[in-house]
Amino acid sequence: MFVKTTLAVLALVGSSVAQFCPEALRFGSLASVSPEPIVLGQEVTFTANFTCAIELGYAPVYVDYTLVVPAANNTGYQPPIYFGRRDGPSSGIDTFTVTFDPTYYAFTTYPDAQYEVILTSTYAADSDSYGTTLVSGYTTYGVSLIQASD
Ligand SMILES: *[C@@H]1O[C@H](CO)[C@@H](O)[C@H](O)[C@H]1NC(C)=O
Ligand SMILES: *[C@@H]1O[C@H](CO)[C@@H](O)[C@H](O)[C@H]1NC(C)=O
Repeated sequence: MFVKTTLAVLALVGSSVAQFCPEALRFGSLASVSPEPIVLGQEVTFTANFTCAIELGYAPVYVDYTLVVPAANNTGYQPPIYFGRRDGPSSGIDTFTVTFDPTYYAFTTYPDAQYEVILTSTYAADSDSYGTTLVSGYTTYGVSLIQASD
């Protein structure tokens, strides 16, 4: 009796975990950056997860990745670095590698800058009368960058 009850509760917990997709994940999430800190001049692998975005009805048409110095810390000479435009993955998982140019002036001039990755998901908002409108949402992630020589 006791064992049966315990199993039933566990089964319930298991299935609700698998299906739970918080609204916060509707634009996808950056699952991993490897290595982190990012080493300039060496390959970095980004993996983003749109499993919940798709399940919630926000399947990305394409996804943009930029590296930015947030306004509060930006000298005005640190433009966003655009490093990926990708088709929305039907599998839900997008993985790709990038090598950042270690000689780019913003990296050498401001070696201690704090960066974040902005993951922008563009998805189709459909309406019966007017067809499709593309709209975007984004999430941000703090990342550290170092020079190979550091
Ligand atoms: C992607 O997200 C789903 C739902 O949260 C999760 O079950 C899965 O393990 C994640 N996969 C990766 C590679 O992060
Ligand atoms: C970034 O800006 C915030 C708010 O102005 C400040 O507290 C923080 O020290 C700054 N960080 C760097 C690395 O400049």
